[in-house]
Amino acid sequence: MAKRGTEVRTVGISATGMYVPDRILTNAHLEKMVDTTDQWIQTRTGIRERHVASPGTPASDLAAPALQSALRTRGLLPEELDHVIVTTVTPDMFFPSTACVLQDKVGARNAWGYDLSAACSGFIFGLIAGSQAVASGSVRNAAVVGVDVLTTLVDWTNRNQCVLFGDGCGVVILEPRDDGDGIIDAVLHVDGSGGQYLNMLGGGSLNPPTHATVDQGLHYLYQDGKAVFKVASTSMADVTLEVVERNGFRIQDISLIIPHQANLRIIEAVAKRLGIPREQVLINIDRYGNTTSATIPMGLHEATRSGRVKKGDLVVLTSFGGGYTWGAVLLRWEL
Ligand code: UT7
Repeated sequence: MAKRGTEVRTVGISATGMYVPDRILTNAHLEKMVDTTDQWIQTRTGIRERHVASPGTPASDLAAPALQSALRTRGLLPEELDHVIVTTVTPDMFFPSTACVLQDKVGARNAWGYDLSAACSGFIFGLIAGSQAVASGSVRNAAVVGVDVLTTLVDWTNRNQCVLFGDGCGVVILEPRDDGDGIIDAVLHVDGSGGQYLNMLGGGSLNPPTHATVDQGLHYLYQDGKAVFKVASTSMADVTLEVVERNGFRIQDISLIIPHQANLRIIEAVAKRLGIPREQVLINIDRYGNTTSATIPMGLHEATRSGRVKKGDLVVLTSFGGGYTWGAVLLRWEL
């Protein structure tokens, strides 16, 4: 760790990267696995297909190529990276952290880091943690790695769950800036009373893994979809408006909103509540499903590559997930 600096600096995203496994599971494949239809999945969720890791693939195997590609784009060698935050609810294992595994896999031998658990909001929580470390001067740069292999927590016989998720990773590199662009502000929230609606209860100290916990399916993700749907739609819209307005902007000033991709209908409800057209919101759930921590950095990477966001644009990232955890980040795009 470098000596702590004295100035608080502005921090921005200097490169992005992403990686998804090659294997694609379409709705037609799922029709053969459970009692579902392409029509139900598309109309209720907006998902057409998702990328799924082969059995036995750890999160770090998705994270390593995504991080390497972001470092290459920025022109940084792995040993020039100071800090790595991995946001995930599907770490390789409880410990060592996936950040440690990843540091070793990519040869970032001078970086220190840790895993951060905030479910689908993990990436934006990690983005703020990483930007504060860079702003303080304690690190020169930081990689924030949103990665999940959520298909490992899915009961593949349960149609309520198995159609929703995919696997993937998105990465950003954070560095200080002199021009005041980059991350402008963030509003982040936690409400632990929402934990009952979205969780995975088995495997930790509350329910250590036993034959009984496995028999009860406690190692699978659980969600009360309807309860989560309602609060996710209103919370993401309201927190987006809050971060925009408290910085003196109007929602119309935002070039692109990149929301967590859990359900197309949630994204449409957010746009409706904000009174903005669908075109102002990034949608890629049709191709990836819900990749948990990875949805926002993957969206950011694709938006940059396709020219959907340009230098100088105002962008809002917003998410809602298990915890409950939610928030919004306002930034001025600089790439
Ligand atoms: O990323 C973290 C945050 N998570 C979210 O934001 C997710 C929020 N929730 C949702 O996106 C939606 O609630 C779901 C997509 C999970 C479910 O959609 P829904 O419109 O709330 O459906 P539902 O669970 O109320 O189910 C409606 C019907 C049920 O049948 P009955 O009881 O009405 O006969 C389900 O059994 O649809 C049935 N159903 C299915 N049918 C065909 C549920 N899943 C399927 C399926 N195929 N895959």
